[in-house]
Amino acid sequence: MSIHPLPPPREPIGLGRVPVGRWFLIIGAAAGVAFVAGGAIVMTMTAEAVRLNPRPDVAAQLDRLIVALIVLFAVLLVCGVGLWVMVRYAVLRPIDQLTEQVRTVAAGDFDHDLHVDRPAELAELSSHIDSMRARIVSAWRVAADQTEELRRSNGELEQFAYVASHDLQEPLRKVASFTQMLEQRYGSQLDERAKQYIHYAVDGAKRMQLLINDLLDFSRVGRVTGEKTAIESGKALDTALENLSATIDDTGATVTRDELPRLYGNPLQLTQLFQNLIENAVKFRSEEPPRIHIGVARSGDMWEFSCADNGIGVEPKYADRIFLIFQRLHARDVYPGTGIGLALCRKIVEYHGGQLWLDGNAESRGATFRWTIPATGDER
Ligand SMILES: Nc1ncnc2c1ncn2[C@@H]1O[C@H](COP(=O)(O)OP(=O)(O)O)[C@@H](O)[C@H]1O
Ligand SMILES: [Mg+2]
Repeated sequence: MSIHPLPPPREPIGLGRVPVGRWFLIIGAAAGVAFVAGGAIVMTMTAEAVRLNPRPDVAAQLDRLIVALIVLFAVLLVCGVGLWVMVRYAVLRPIDQLTEQVRTVAAGDFDHDLHVDRPAELAELSSHIDSMRARIVSAWRVAADQTEELRRSNGELEQFAYVASHDLQEPLRKVASFTQMLEQRYGSQLDERAKQYIHYAVDGAKRMQLLINDLLDFSRVGRVTGEKTAIESGKALDTALENLSATIDDTGATVTRDELPRLYGNPLQLTQLFQNLIENAVKFRSEEPPRIHIGVARSGDMWEFSCADNGIGVEPKYADRIFLIFQRLHARDVYPGTGIGLALCRKIVEYHGGQLWLDGNAESRGATFRWTIPATGDER
């Protein structure tokens, strides 16, 4: 079980700073002094009265008074001592015991029982605290078990996606290449319809290859290409732009940027992130040549990046849907794609401890995506 170090106890205020035991000593000492002084004064006064040779019946009364006072003082003394013993053993000790037990639980031993048998009020209080402890511990254990189970099944799913997409590549490559060979070798013997069927088969196999490659990238985030280092995010953007240079030249796109910070992250994944967002910005362009701006601003202990374009934009009602895997808003023959890009981007950003979303209130006419990445403190 993990537990943070115990926080220091809260400071009591005002007269509450003096412990009950000390209050008892102070009041007891004052009562003792008053008791001794009172006794001495009464003794002196009766001695004075006896010295005045009082009448025999008055002297007898004085004797009785002295006896009564001695008995009264003795009873008071016994009561005082009894009270002290009672407070010490019936209140202060059990409170100390309970405090010690609660401290042990608070320090991380959540199975430690909390119990004192007396006095009745403290016994009741300790049994309530103990049942509270038991309920919290059992709820916490259930939650911990479920988290562990989720982590395990998530790991299994990731493993499955990885193995499936990895192992499917080889047979698929075979299907694609042999269908192509069929067309090349026996094309002359086939009629138009057979050629069309072969064309569909090759097209399907190629599309599946794209899907499987994207799925493989998706399942790799945080598993295979995981290590993070201090990197210049501007360099990741440069690499992404290099990879996209052909598309950017073809479409006449311009990409501008703010000065990008140093980050703690995975270079390959951050390149994939920029690349997917810029690729989308170019792909979903309007009639104008694409203009894309990569911005960044500090927001608390996070960097907030943005990728704004002047393309066709996304209707706000689809702001969540577009991040789901395989979810696309357009037919494949209008805008090609597998629908994994944004899901991959979100997984990358979350792996880096940030969030990615579509900005519904952005000023630019096209789409603006924003994402956060924790700042490390030594950037720029
Ligand atoms: N910059 C953008 N402008 C307009 N629509 C976008 C943009 N980026 C993403 N989208 C929408 O989100 C969907 C999902 O994007 P993505 O996951 O990258 O899949 P793909 O690019 O393969 O279609 C896209 O099909 C598109 O409808
Ligand atoms: Mg995409």
